Amino acid sequence: MSTLSEDELVAASAPGVGPHPQPWPDDARYDPVLLADGDRRNVADRYRYWSMDAIVADLDARRSPLHVAIQNWEHDFNIGSIVRTANAFNVETVHILGRRRWNRRGAMVTDRYLHVEHHADVPGFLAELAERGVVPVGVDNLPGSVPLETTELPERCCLVFGSEGPGLTDELVAGCERLVAITQYGSTRSLNAGAAAAIAMYHWALRWAR
Ligand SMILES: C[S@@+](CC[C@H](N)C(=O)[O-])C[C@H]1O[C@@H](n2cnc3c(N)ncnc32)[C@H](O)[C@@H]1O
Repeated sequence: MSTLSEDELVAASAPGVGPHPQPWPDDARYDPVLLADGDRRNVADRYRYWSMDAIVADLDARRSPLHVAIQNWEHDFNIGSIVRTANAFNVETVHILGRRRWNRRGAMVTDRYLHVEHHADVPGFLAELAERGVVPVGVDNLPGSVPLETTELPERCCLVFGSEGPGLTDELVAGCERLVAITQYGSTRSLNAGAAAAIAMYHWALRWAR
């Protein structure tokens, strides 16, 4: 028969790690509350018990030169998923274009470890990229796209994704240095935007991730 209380059983089955055994590490990156209570966050093992500020500082020290942008014309549930993948590839900045508010559900708090910038309009976004020396690359299966699989993306680029439904707007397409498309082999017209974004970031990482 189990001798654990109901609370202990719940804690034991939760993801992450429980309270840190004594003695605690003598390092300012560790968060005393997490050391005492346990760390149930979805973070890589090397960041267990670190404060969020310490994790962000460590990520900042080795960000990829990759940017990602998403057109937010609809309340698209894919945006959260794209943000989560952008965190996994430790991109430099995520840009949200259009509406300021976006559906954070799929992000699973990963946006807090990233730099997310909002741009009300396309010209402002493109000017910001140009100032930072970042090449805008549109990712969509539109006329004029070249296959992503046989394209070498610039190292310092911003992969730009459209909303579920309309895709990239004509204004944004006109501002991109090139368009790339993921070749498809079935009957559906397009991929889910979150899946397309993951493939495109992975393609960039195969060539440039350090
Ligand atoms: C569902 S698609 C919508 C529009 C699409 N142009 C169409 O013709 O149906 C939404 C977004 O997912 C991405 N996407 C979907 N399939 C893609 C593919 N095969 N290649 C590149 N991007 C794709 C693009 O960023 C696109 O703007």
